[in-house]
Parts: sequence; structure tokens; C-alpha cells
Amino acid sequence: MKLTKEINRRRTFAIISHPDAGKTTLTEKLLLFGGAIQVAGAVKSNKIKRGATSDFMEIERQRGISVATSVMGFEYKGVKINILDTPGHQDFAEDTYRTLTAVDSVIVVIDVAKGVEMQTEKLVEVCRMRDTPVIVFINKLDREGKDAFELLDEIEQKLQLNVRPLSWPVGMGSDFKGVYSLYEQKLVLFDAHGKQNTSDAVQINELGAPELDGYLGRQAGRLREEVELIEGVYPAFDRQAYLKGQLSPVFFGSAINNFGVRELLDCFIEIAPPPQPSKTEEREISPEEPQFTGFVFKIHANMDPNHRNRLAFVRVCSGKFERNKNYHHVRMGKNLKFSSPTSFMAAKKSIIDEAFPGDIVGLYDTGNFKIGDTLTEGESIHFKGIPSFSPELFRYVVNADPMKSKQLAKGLDQLMDEGVAQLFTTATGRKIIGTVGALQFEVIQYRLKHEYGASCEYESASLYKACWITCEDAATLKLFKQRKMRNMAVDKHGRDVFLATSAWDLNSTRELFPDINFHFTSEF
Ligand code: G4P
Repeated sequence: MKLTKEINRRRTFAIISHPDAGKTTLTEKLLLFGGAIQVAGAVKSNKIKRGATSDFMEIERQRGISVATSVMGFEYKGVKINILDTPGHQDFAEDTYRTLTAVDSVIVVIDVAKGVEMQTEKLVEVCRMRDTPVIVFINKLDREGKDAFELLDEIEQKLQLNVRPLSWPVGMGSDFKGVYSLYEQKLVLFDAHGKQNTSDAVQINELGAPELDGYLGRQAGRLREEVELIEGVYPAFDRQAYLKGQLSPVFFGSAINNFGVRELLDCFIEIAPPPQPSKTEEREISPEEPQFTGFVFKIHANMDPNHRNRLAFVRVCSGKFERNKNYHHVRMGKNLKFSSPTSFMAAKKSIIDEAFPGDIVGLYDTGNFKIGDTLTEGESIHFKGIPSFSPELFRYVVNADPMKSKQLAKGLDQLMDEGVAQLFTTATGRKIIGTVGALQFEVIQYRLKHEYGASCEYESASLYKACWITCEDAATLKLFKQRKMRNMAVDKHGRDVFLATSAWDLNSTRELFPDINFHFTSEF
């Protein structure tokens, strides 16, 4: 059946890393292999360069670029690959978390010299929460770095992943000779002058063979010892364990030199999962179901302030999405038809007639969508796993131009729908913006002015954390809200939120009110 065939040939994934580990470079090399771009440098980095004149001006510039790189689709050996881009800057971590809800697997890039860095830890934690299969690519082997075994230990410890090397480096830095593919029993030699091509790969059926010494000289003996050690220490590669998120294959290479990338890609298309079932509050949705379902995981505002339409990114979860067909918008309870759904093939956008599970469709929107919204052929379901996280930075919003109150309210509303930040309203009607990163405050101020003609100022709010609260017993909840009136607010959906002023305040309140449940993500 066509649907099954289309599902099985799709791989939708994200590349994640700490900034500067080589995510952009690796993405670009993958696109080159797929023939999606012809020259290096075509993928503009979706990251904020150090020393940029002003961070938020840079963000504006990046927003223009990042819509083009949000999804990069290409075909490789008959497989349709969709790479979902994630912002590198830590202040936008929440965007990355949301993108991770729309992928079936991830590749984590680690800098061989720096090892596991903070941002990688946080992102992999989100993957672990969701049991997302993870492949690790250790990059920059052309430079001196940490010992490979030490790095594997560090990954196991800090990322809490069980690892299994599928390739192994021969030397590093100035001694770097290449990688040995344990998966294909192939030695790929590194040409220090640049281009790797497939003719540099030699099949090694027996590591004891003297030809290995011919290729590697003194380093052959060490490779033999290390491979023996790997086979002794690490479990055999088990694809099922990888697919369950319990075992992570590790590759080594140098993205900038296009080295080890083809091996990674060839293995990836073989082992990485096709579109997986999705959880909804009501039931699990199999991609094979003939009826279309999908959810919005990202909203991108138009750069042109004269056209306030936005692009909502929908992950197709089941069935076939078709242009000009009526779909049910579950939250609004109304039917919508899309005349120009967009797909993304590398940097090119084009209107599509159909899309299959695993694909990302861009839908032009004039304000109908919020992150997490579901589209179906009529069934009322709600996709799970697209949470907002407890924000940690807070400011009161003050309207700086009373003539523009309406614009401010509308602007704030729409920016919150896009997931830029969260808005809380206190019992006295004051509005508080909560974010995960400090840059968002500047972004909001800038965008309110440029897109909505509204001005806002901020007043500091000395708050520590916002958490959603629930309680089985209505009377206890009421009492809590009375006692903590000054710390209470509601979120955009009218749900109760407790604003803790300090870690101590949060802990002591929890101790004092053991029957109240405190939630740190919006999904509970
Ligand atoms: P990111 O998206 O994860 O933030 O990283 P990006 O690919 O932009 O790479 C960060 C820096 O690391 C870039 O250098 C890039 O050229 C370099 N790089 C990537 N892969 C390798 C590798 O295999 N070996 C070595 N030695 N360097 C690598 P930059 O100077 O910051 O930027 P650029 O001026 O080269 O763009």
C-alpha cells in the first residue's frame, strides 16, 4: 500500500548540540550528500554569532533565515529525510524542546575536545524523557581532543546513555588517520588535505591482516587492541534497544572535512526509526491509520509587518494530508481548508498537494493556531507531549503607550501563542511575562513595537519559579489560594499558578501544603 511505503521510507530527526560543536556544519554536509544543496556555505547558521552588535537585532536577522532552515527535506538512496532545525542559543531551549516532540530520532553532535557540554545535557534529558532514539556523532577529530574511551565514559555518565561505538577513530589531531567502521568492517582513510571520497575506503575483513599495517603503520596495532577492547566491553549493537532509546550508537568524524559523515548517514537510514505512533490524551495514533491527523509544534511569524500572517508547522502523524481538503481544528471546533500548504526541500519552499506521516507541512495562518493544536478529519483528539516548562525569569509588563492598549493585548496574545514566553495575570490584574531565557524579553519588546505598534516597559519581579497547582480537594485548594493570594496568578488558559519568590519559599510552601500538587511543566 502506498501509505505504508511512504511511511517506511521517511526519517524525521533533529540534530542537537551545544553551540559550536558543529551542528550547522554537519547539517550542511548531509544536505550536500542528498544533493539538496550544491555548495558548502548554503545553510545559514541559525545561531547567534558571538559579538553580534545586538543580540535581538541578530535574532531578527536570524528569523528571516531560520524559516528557510526550519525543515530541510531531501532524498537520499530512496529515503525521504526531514531534518528539523533547532536554535542553538540556550535562551531558545524551549523552541528546541518543542521541535523534539515532532521528530522520531536525534543525532547529538559532541566536540571531541570539549566533551559533553551543558546544553547537550539538557537536550538529551528531554530525549530520554520521551525515549527518543539517539545517535552520537563525535566531531572535530582533526583536532586534538579527549581520549575516545574517556569520552564514551563521559557520555554514559553525564548523558545517562548506554553507548555502543559503531565507528572508531585511528589517532586524532595531526595523527588522525581515519575511522574504522565497526558496522561495515571498513577502514576510511583521512586525507589531511581535505576531501574524503569513497575510494579512500578499504574493506578490512580481518583486522589481523597485514594490509592494515600497510595503511596505518604503527597505529595498526593500537587499533587492533582498541577494537578488541570495544568488542569485549560494549554490548553488541542491538537495533531494538536503540529504537527503544536504550542504546546509542556512536560515530566519530570531522564534519568540516566531510569525514565520517557518509558512514553516519548510510547507517542512519538503515537503523533510524520511520514515523512512530503518537500519543494523544484519548488514544495512541498509528501512522498507518488512513485518516489524517497532525499537530502544530512551531509557529513562525511573518517577517513583513504589513502582512501579519504566520506559518504554522504541522507534523503529519497519520494518514495523508491533502491540499484543499477540509480539516477539523479540534480546539476551535471548526473546519479549515488550506490552499497553499508548503513543504520544505532544503532552502526551497514549495506548495504541495499531499504529505505523509513524518512530513512537516507549513500552513499559512492568520491567527487560528497555537502551539499544540490538533488537526484531524473530524475526530476530537489532543496530542500529548508538547509542554510549556516552568519559566524562571519574570518581569511585570507595563503599557508604555496607553493609546495602544488594544495593540499591546493583541501582540502579547499572539506572541504567547507562538510560544515566545508565558503570560500570567495576578489577582490584582497585573501581567507578568515568564521566560526560560533572558533574550526573550528583548525579543518581545522589539516585536511588539515593530509588528503591533505597541510599546511596553518592564518592571522587575523578584520571583523564582512559576508552577501550576492542582488539588483533589476543592476546599483545600480554595484555602491555599486564599492564604497565598499575593503569590497567585492564572495562566493564559485560566489555570492556577503559584509564583514562588525563592527556592526556600517553594520548598516550605510544599511542606506546609502536602495535599497541593505542584507541576513544573504545563502537561499534568
Ligand atoms: P553549531 O552549529 O553547532 O553552533 O556549530 P558550527 O557548525 O557552526 O561549527 C562551529 C565551528 O566549528 C565553526 O567554526 C566550524 O567551522 C567548526 N567546525 C565544525 N566541524 C569541524 C570539524 O570537524 N573540525 C574542525 N576543526 N572544526 C569544525 P567557526 O570558526 O566558529 O565558524 P566559521 O567561521 O568556520 O563558520
